[in-house]
Amino acid sequence: MINLAQIGCGYWGPNLLRNFSSLPDAAVRFVVEASVDRRRYVEANYPATAAVAELEPVLTDKSVHGLVIATPARSHFELARRGLEAGKHVFVEKPLAMTVDEVDRLDAMARERGLTLMVGHTFLYNPAVLALKALIDSGELGRIYYLYTQRLNLGVVRQDVNALWNLAPHDVSICNFLLGSAPLSAAAYGTAYLQPGIEDVVFANFEYPGQVRASVHVSWLDPNKVRKVTLVGSRRMAVYDDVAADKLVVYDKGVDSAAAQPGDPLPFDQPPADLRLVYRSGAAHVHPVPAAEPLRETARDFLAAIASGRPPRADAASGRAVVASLQAATRSLKENSRQVRLDEIVAGAPTP
Ligand SMILES: NC(=O)c1ccc[n+]([C@@H]2O[C@H](COP(=O)([O-])OP(=O)(O)OC[C@H]3O[C@@H](n4cnc5c(N)ncnc54)[C@H](O)[C@@H]3O)[C@@H](O)[C@H]2O)c1
Repeated sequence: MINLAQIGCGYWGPNLLRNFSSLPDAAVRFVVEASVDRRRYVEANYPATAAVAELEPVLTDKSVHGLVIATPARSHFELARRGLEAGKHVFVEKPLAMTVDEVDRLDAMARERGLTLMVGHTFLYNPAVLALKALIDSGELGRIYYLYTQRLNLGVVRQDVNALWNLAPHDVSICNFLLGSAPLSAAAYGTAYLQPGIEDVVFANFEYPGQVRASVHVSWLDPNKVRKVTLVGSRRMAVYDDVAADKLVVYDKGVDSAAAQPGDPLPFDQPPADLRLVYRSGAAHVHPVPAAEPLRETARDFLAAIASGRPPRADAASGRAVVASLQAATRSLKENSRQVRLDEIVAGAPTP
């Protein structure tokens, strides 16, 4: 039995609490909450969990093996640092921290102490994302040309971080996972309409190895709820729509060279003099996606990583790649949308 303490149970915390509480090999012994209202919520719904205001006694309680941190992003580093220092395994909601420097310090602490450090990149546990990844890896989609993501809605408007840091960790974690790499560079633009200095809408473009482009559009100031990933490959195109009944649709569409097999990538580096383009507009089919709650799978991976000592899928490296990407995009936002290479983002860069 793995005993857990969760820190923070506001808007998102109840989902983590429900999932961790439902797993047979875990018990959430404590919820540490600053708000009396939120402690009452825990007391009313989870009688076996003690809702407390103070973190220190939980950190010194030897029966607590792991922490689940569901507080606002800027508090993640300090809370995770204290947890690791106290010898606890740590799960942190996204983003893992606000700088790669902070991520590196947490990672080093976890390694030194043999503790699990995991970030809440829940989309790495989403069955539609896993199905899309399998399609890419099998070659079914051909050469990946580009992808773009949209995460839009009206609200929830944050006051602590902008839409990039609040929403794009999901999209960047998805792109990195699908492409098997962190981006090389980022260029972003965005605007703060509602609160000074807090961008409500951001368009961030990431360049990946092999001339693959990913464009991430995030906004909490949009008329529609959109949660979509569109991926264009040389053989097939695919759309993962998280709010649709059919989550993953694969299109037999593309533009081919008449001189090559349908689906072969166009030789755009060395185009032939007589290039003739042929449009392929075949059928769309719904790709089966198994039913599973991604957050439950996320919680299970944290427990399995603790039990086995192996890294979780959403490990510190995954968290670092996302934080570095967001830091590069943030620098670009501040520097007139300049293309910022990720290797400019080194330990010691200032907190966004
Ligand atoms: N995976 C997802 O889809 C998803 C969705 C929403 C939010 N999140 C993440 O969850 C985290 C929390 O977001 P939220 O929307 O629930 O925020 P929130 O502000 O609604 O809730 C945070 C809670 O933490 C408590 N808190 C803050 N600091 C504390 C401390 N030091 N000790 C004890 N309690 C403390 C607050 O009282 C509050 O109840 C963020 O990291 C956010 O990025 C993830």
